[in-house]
Amino acid sequence: MAAVDVDSGRRKLDWARAHMPIHARLRERFGASRPFANTVVAVCSHVEAKTGVFIETLAAAGAEVVFTGSEPMSSQDDVMAALNEQDGITGHMRHGVTDDELARLHETVLDQNPNFILDDAAELTARWVARHPDAAAGLLGTCEQTTTGVQRLQAMAGQGVLHFPSYAVNDTPMKHYFDNVHGTGESTLTNLCQATNLLLAGQRVVIAGFGYCGRGLAEKARGWNARVIVTEIDPRRALEAHMAGFDVMPMEEAAAQGDFFITATGNRDVLRDVHFRNMRDGAVLSNAGHFNVEINAEDLGALAKSRREVRAGIEEFTLEDGRRINLLCEGRLANLAAPTAMGHPAEVMDQTFGTQLMAAVDLMSRRQDLSAGVHAVPDAVDREVAEIKLETLGIGFDELTDIQQQFAQAWRIEDIKS
Ligand code: NAI
Repeated sequence: MAAVDVDSGRRKLDWARAHMPIHARLRERFGASRPFANTVVAVCSHVEAKTGVFIETLAAAGAEVVFTGSEPMSSQDDVMAALNEQDGITGHMRHGVTDDELARLHETVLDQNPNFILDDAAELTARWVARHPDAAAGLLGTCEQTTTGVQRLQAMAGQGVLHFPSYAVNDTPMKHYFDNVHGTGESTLTNLCQATNLLLAGQRVVIAGFGYCGRGLAEKARGWNARVIVTEIDPRRALEAHMAGFDVMPMEEAAAQGDFFITATGNRDVLRDVHFRNMRDGAVLSNAGHFNVEINAEDLGALAKSRREVRAGIEEFTLEDGRRINLLCEGRLANLAAPTAMGHPAEVMDQTFGTQLMAAVDLMSRRQDLSAGVHAVPDAVDREVAEIKLETLGIGFDELTDIQQQFAQAWRIEDIKS
């Protein structure tokens, strides 16, 4: 095994830190107040430089941080090593671990009995709940950064096993309007083009799911001059995509037309046997949703007479009739697991992790008043992250005058027109 280049990890952290001004402000603020003093905070996310800056900021805020990865292929061992040499930070992750090994690393993190979890797709939270189905067992709360995780938390709450408060950080405007839309859009297309070395202009790109991620992908693919087709299961989202000017059709029709496919639904089997049978020779399949179940790779394997790695990170499946279908990085998150992937741009993750951090501090301070269950992050917390971001950009914005505030509260016609 090649030696890990710790210095490369340090330089990656330096670069990310230089482009994460919200974290610089929060490090200063929470480094003084230390809201996580005497608290073990478990972090699960993609172990790369932006997550590293987030972890460093938590440690500066007094936390004893224990962290792991949420995806085997997105972890960078050099960043991991550069974090592990810092005080108050311990990581358990390695690039390319199997799913079973990843599960064991997650268990190792939970063995540290965290008081707080900052999670991605509820990976640690769901394990914690499975370990302690009847009680919170010392866990004060959790914050969740992605759509799939919020869905899982709601499922746990519905089954009466969520015995602590959780903030749905994913659902804040500062997260999903930027991270899901712009972060996923830019980083997925960039990695798709880099991994394939193919052109999007003039090609038919099929986007499955017109949620926050899907609309970012669709808009940006259009911006790159692709001909975009959207598939949906929600009639309102399908209509929204139509009125945004995209072609909308069921996947069974789109399957026969697409040159590139990107799934972003948070669901499974969005591309499966029936679709592969109709695809064009050379179709490229990729996924941006959290789990690698959106494209049914088993179905594809069953239809293929042969398969090979045709380029780094791309598996080519040749069907009986000679058509070739290409699957990007085993259907894992293309923006994080492709060979050249580095995840979302730093500026976007500065907002996402800044919101996670601010939400966690708020939850810690209000935990006595919060019931067990999934809670919205208070709007004031989200607004403050936006204000910090605008301040770092040097962009001003207006405030309501006293009269405008009164107007916004009025309902009698004489008060409205006076
Ligand atoms: P969302 O809930 O806003 O959108 C999902 C959309 O997919 C919905 O409109 C839904 O109606 C549609 N859908 C569900 N099943 C479908 C099917 N079989 N066919 C077509 N459409 C279907 O969710 P969001 O925020 O867009 O997230 C989607 C996924 O992406 C989640 O798994 C989330 O965790 C993940 N995610 C990935 C990121 C990345 O870095 N790649 C970043 C943020 C989120």
